[in-house]
Amino acid sequence: MSSVVSSQRVLSGMRPTGRLHLGHYHGVLKNWVRLQHEYECFFFVADWHALTTEYEHPQSIEQAVWEMVIDWLAAGVNPGAATLFVQSRVPEHAELHLLLSMMTPLGWLERVPTYKDQQEKLKEKDLATYGFLGYPLLQSADILMYRAGQVPVGADQVAHIEITREVARRFNHLYGREPGFEEAVAAAIRKMGKKQARVYQDHRRKYQEQGDEQALETARALVLGQQNITLGDRERLLGDLEGGGKVILPEPQALLTPASKMPGLDGHKMSKSYGNFISLREEPDSVDEKIRRMPTDPARVRRTDPGNPEHCPVWQLHQVYSDDQTRQWVWEGCTTAGIGCLDCKKPVIDAVQAELEPIRRRAEEHARDPDLVRSIVADGCEEAREAARATLEEVRTAMGLNYR
Ligand code: TRP
Ligand code: SF4
Repeated sequence: MSSVVSSQRVLSGMRPTGRLHLGHYHGVLKNWVRLQHEYECFFFVADWHALTTEYEHPQSIEQAVWEMVIDWLAAGVNPGAATLFVQSRVPEHAELHLLLSMMTPLGWLERVPTYKDQQEKLKEKDLATYGFLGYPLLQSADILMYRAGQVPVGADQVAHIEITREVARRFNHLYGREPGFEEAVAAAIRKMGKKQARVYQDHRRKYQEQGDEQALETARALVLGQQNITLGDRERLLGDLEGGGKVILPEPQALLTPASKMPGLDGHKMSKSYGNFISLREEPDSVDEKIRRMPTDPARVRRTDPGNPEHCPVWQLHQVYSDDQTRQWVWEGCTTAGIGCLDCKKPVIDAVQAELEPIRRRAEEHARDPDLVRSIVADGCEEAREAARATLEEVRTAMGLNYR
């Protein structure tokens, strides 16, 4: 009935922005591809989040969803390893969002920095809406729904993970105290057997009295390793360890994605709106041309002028794509005018082409087979819904709302 607290679970989402580029690949997708083999991963398209800013043109979202999913698959996100789904197809997110909204103080939402920042930044849109204010809480529902232990996000999203932790804490505090909690905990501890119960109690004391995190970890592992206690007991014990009630919604951690070093063609952050990107499905000729046209150190007017790689965006691409030896060659050649800029760009062009070749091919395959893509997502949605239903069941029960 209930799904267990799972620190091994990872959840992350992306708003549907359509086709992705190398910035997304190096900043996010490569990380997801790695994580999918290490954790139980849920990756989803945050289409309702897109609606908070695109509500005037909701028709544009659909295509952006499919294009983005195709690019995820092309980049190597594997539906055999991770669960891929679309937020709006798991309507449980809306119910959890609503329930959480009842106990979330308005001030918490008004204080999230992205609220004012984005309103400032997207001045052309009217974002003085209820939905936009609730954006971080919808995100909290996304995360808490899967009891994710880790949430890979960029630095801009850390405040949203923080509010998620506060909401979870408040929820557990309000609804995690079932009548008879202490007695139930004592009974659960007895079920562990004398020896293990002693170990559990010692470690709990070490954590609660001395803040010993290692002891907390050990006790947690002990609880998770128990075969003969119920899932409910397991959650009570986990709650007992941290000195609260039953942990119904565990607090997630932000898994900070290292800032992508992937610069755009002009040396600024690669971004669709700056027009300085190479898309994951960029044709080879276009890749060639975009890199050939990249600006270089403005001081290198003639081939015979020495340059300074530090003043050149191509040098930044060498940081991503080249080994030490090639970089050495660039530095030498540039500062002594030994090589021309086109020579210098050649290894970058080759590396980008080699990187994109399989991605482009997989994207084409999936683009040609929309039924396959839809069925991958349909399966993922089913799987996600199952996990979501289990959580909601517990949430309703904890709140005394399971009377239908
Ligand atoms: N707000 C995130 C962004 O703009 C997208 C998102 C929505 C998300 N729900 C999430 C990310 C849950 C991580 C977890 O990038
Ligand atoms: Fe930039 Fe390379 Fe030209 Fe130097 S040689 S200015 S690093 S492109």
